[in-house]
Amino acid sequence: MKIFTGSAHPALAKEICTNLSIDLGKSETIRFSNENIMVKIHENVRGEDVYVIQPSVSPVSEGIIELLMMLDALKHSSAQRITAVIPYFPYARSDKKDQPRISITARLMADLIETAGADRVLTMDLHAPQIQGFFRIPVDQLRAINIICDHLKNGDISNYVLVASDAGEAKDAGRFANRLHLPMAIIDKRRHGNDERPIPTNLIGDVKGKKVFLVDDEISTAGTIISGLKFLFDHGATDAVAACTHPILCGPAIQRIAESKLSEVVVTNTIPIAPEKMIDKITVLSVAPVFSKAIKCVHEGESISSLFD
Ligand code: R5P
Repeated sequence: MKIFTGSAHPALAKEICTNLSIDLGKSETIRFSNENIMVKIHENVRGEDVYVIQPSVSPVSEGIIELLMMLDALKHSSAQRITAVIPYFPYARSDKKDQPRISITARLMADLIETAGADRVLTMDLHAPQIQGFFRIPVDQLRAINIICDHLKNGDISNYVLVASDAGEAKDAGRFANRLHLPMAIIDKRRHGNDERPIPTNLIGDVKGKKVFLVDDEISTAGTIISGLKFLFDHGATDAVAACTHPILCGPAIQRIAESKLSEVVVTNTIPIAPEKMIDKITVLSVAPVFSKAIKCVHEGESISSLFD
């Protein structure tokens, strides 16, 4: 087995390699003045079971090209099987044609990854699980729910309600509620056009006098979490913790979180967080153990469903 990393998140790749007691494969990405890049694999991969770790992070487009080039380079170097390990999937929110004349870009990403040479994909908490169906190759979707719930259970959770930040998150929030044995509520969130200002419109469930765990798959500008938080406080919530797998934390996100009444924001390291964004309220949980176990299972042909128990 060989593991390589693109430029997106070498720290996660190294952590995964440490857990698996193997060295990170040697590769290099060269950036030319004309903005072209070149990827070079520096060790023999002929006949190997190879994994490329590359979540979607800023700069997003360059990261996608780098991943595709690595897959292509490995395919043409005669790797026996190539798994694209994409902890945060690119363009996952563009998964449907909900406006005229737009691209279903998540589907396009699937086509590109497959065409570039991936035989399998390993990912985590897709924006919509149906994205797995965009591929004709096997896709294993890992979940951060165990890691996040274990952390939440470290505190007293008796007076909490689990809240889905929007209807799309309801199924996942239901899984959290079952696991934590908590009641649940759902915010009915609306967006107008393509703006980044979601508007919570209705609350299904009761949060009066309760503390809330607000669950979402990702925090991007933090508009969803912060508008949801205000809405929940208006409905009588007394305290709030947000739990989201992917910490994109772009634009005004950090300032919004810092100035909010959120007592904690629990995220994972599917995406690296720049040091200047690491404020006290943010707790980062590592997904390296679960990715390491999954890679070992894939390599040895074992079931990975036991990782979800
Ligand atoms: C959207 O449906 C997603 O589940 C998240 O709610 C969204 O990506 C969060 O974005 P933002 O933090 O910019 O509101």
